[in-house]
Parts: sequence; structure tokens; C-alpha cells
Amino acid sequence: MRLVVTGAAGFIGSHLCERLVADGHEVAGIDCFTDYYDRARKAEAIAGLAGARGFSLADVDLLTADLPALLDGTDGVFHLAAQPGVRGSWGERFEVYVRNNVLATQRLLEAMRGRDVPLVYASSSSVYGAAECLPVREDDLPRPISPYGVTKLAAEHLVGLYARSEGIHAASLRYFTVYGPRQRPDMAFTRFCEAALAGRPVEVLGDGQQSRDFTYVADAVDATVRALAGPPGVYNIGGGSRATVNEAIAILSDLTGAALEVERQEAVRGDVPHTWADTTAARERLGWVPHTGLREGLAVHLAWARSRRSDSRPG
Ligand code: UGA
Repeated sequence: MRLVVTGAAGFIGSHLCERLVADGHEVAGIDCFTDYYDRARKAEAIAGLAGARGFSLADVDLLTADLPALLDGTDGVFHLAAQPGVRGSWGERFEVYVRNNVLATQRLLEAMRGRDVPLVYASSSSVYGAAECLPVREDDLPRPISPYGVTKLAAEHLVGLYARSEGIHAASLRYFTVYGPRQRPDMAFTRFCEAALAGRPVEVLGDGQQSRDFTYVADAVDATVRALAGPPGVYNIGGGSRATVNEAIAILSDLTGAALEVERQEAVRGDVPHTWADTTAARERLGWVPHTGLREGLAVHLAWARSRRSDSRPG
């Protein structure tokens, strides 16, 4: 199949492209290399795909690209391109979130009209906000508490709208805090691993008692691949490894062999207190089961951070 992946040079997108190429598909990646974090990290993320048979990359912005041409002959679209980051979405930066999450998604959906091509949209656990009942189910009322979550939910609604009105076969996946090699540099585990390896204290926002249903990246990718051909709808994709930030730091301390020094910082607005996914729908309708537990996944994440560090050292 010929498959389009938006956000191909991003954290989850690059892993998805690798999986699709390994499965024998032709992959047309799209990425506009925003400056949210170092462009070199994105180049690094897709370095392994350069020259891979069947992989191509268009360095274009979804808001200005010739989407009809990019979608021609396509058998499926994975829409992962977005402005990520929960805590930085307040104030003036909101405009970037609206642009890259809402407007870009609407433009892509317009270009998909009348094509009979399935779509998988990368949504987020942040749409739930401070959920009153845990674990959350897809039919719980989403009430984001960050501007980022609002834009991810708005785009999810657009996907649902175009699915109903234009007959686009679409699945939205609410990923729960995905981690693993190449995780973005603003996210907790990459920050913790890099601090630990540099001998710096890890910075904990708030008391560290907030919890996440951490999802290993290969499991998130597997759900994403399954969703293209699966029943349309909205799915929670949570790894089943729920832990507090303090518990994750304790595992990391164990893995590094030294108790990590912790520096407490103010809690940040928009940060949800707890996430926990009810994944019944993904299990029953997509046949998806997460396989990687937190300790195992964190060990791989740490090994990746270690290898990047040694690669960047001179000599
Ligand atoms: C992550 C992603 O950043 C979002 O793009 C995604 O949409 C979201 O998951 C999701 O599941 O929907 P978040 O859960 O905030 O958001 O992921 P991390 O950045 O890994 O943070 C996890 C927890 O660690 C948060 O409570 C955060 O406050 C805390 N943290 C983060 C720290 O204590 N210290 C840090 O240096 C960074």
C-alpha cells in the first residue's frame, strides 16, 4: 500500500514510518520541521529511513502544501503532525496550536473529501482534562484543562464531522503519554534520562504524585497500524503501565544504579493530575494489546539516551 504519514519526523511518526516500511509499504512522509525543538533531533529521528526503499519525505507545511497532489494514489493517511506540548500552550503560543492542530487538520480533511481513503488521527489523553472517574472511557465527557487539549479535541471533532458528512473512514487514537527512544526533549522521561546521565537533578513539576498511563512507543505504533483497517471511532491507547512521576523516578534510579537527585518545581497549569485509560474498545475492536511494561520500556529509553550522549561526545 501507499501510505501518507504527516509528522513523519516526529517522535511517534518516525517510529510509525519505520514500522510501515518494514511491513513492505510505500510511505510518503510529510513534515514541516517546526522549530518547537531542535531540527537536528528530527533529522536524527528519520536518519534511519533515508534511502530506505519505498520511503520519501516532503518538507512541506500542511497549511500551504499541494495536498491533492500528495494524496494522489494514497491508500491511507496517518495524521500525526501537530504542535505538541501541554504546558506551553497558554498565552500567545496558542495561535501556533490553533494553526498546526486545528487549521492544518481541517485542510487535510478537505483534501481527503471524495477519495475513499481511510484516516487515523493522533489525538491525545489530554482531551479528558481532570477526569472525575478513572479509568476513562471514550464516551466520558472530554473537558480539557489545557489550550493544547482544546485544540486536540477540536481536531478530533473535525475528524468525526468529516467522517459523518463526507463518509471518511476515520479513527482517532487518544494516546496516553507515549515514551521510548526519540521521545521529544520537552517530555518527562527524556528530560529525566538526560539529567540523570549528566549528573544533574531531575526536575519534578509539583509533588510528583501526578500519575500517567505510560505507553511504550512500539505499542502506540501497533495500535495506529491496526486502526487504519479497523472499525472507525475513537480509541483510548494507554499502555497499562500507570505510575506516578515519583514511581517512575524510582524505577529510573534503580536502572541507573544511583538514587536520582530531585529538584521540586512549581506545578504547571494545564498539567492533568491523573490519566488512566480504559482500553476495552481498542482490545475488542482493534485486537490491540500493549506488550511493554514501564520498567522494560524505561530501560530501552535510558539506553537510547545513553547512546545519544556517547554519539555526541567528541572522539
Ligand atoms: C504528553 C505529551 O507531551 C502530549 O503531547 C500528549 O498529548 C500527552 O502526553 C497525552 O497523553 O495526551 P504529558 O503527560 O504532560 O503529555 O507528558 P510528559 O511531558 O512526559 O509529563 C509527564 C508528567 O511528568 C507530567 O505530569 C509533568 O508535569 C511531569 N514532568 C514533566 C516533570 O515532573 N518534570 C519534567 O521535567 C517534565
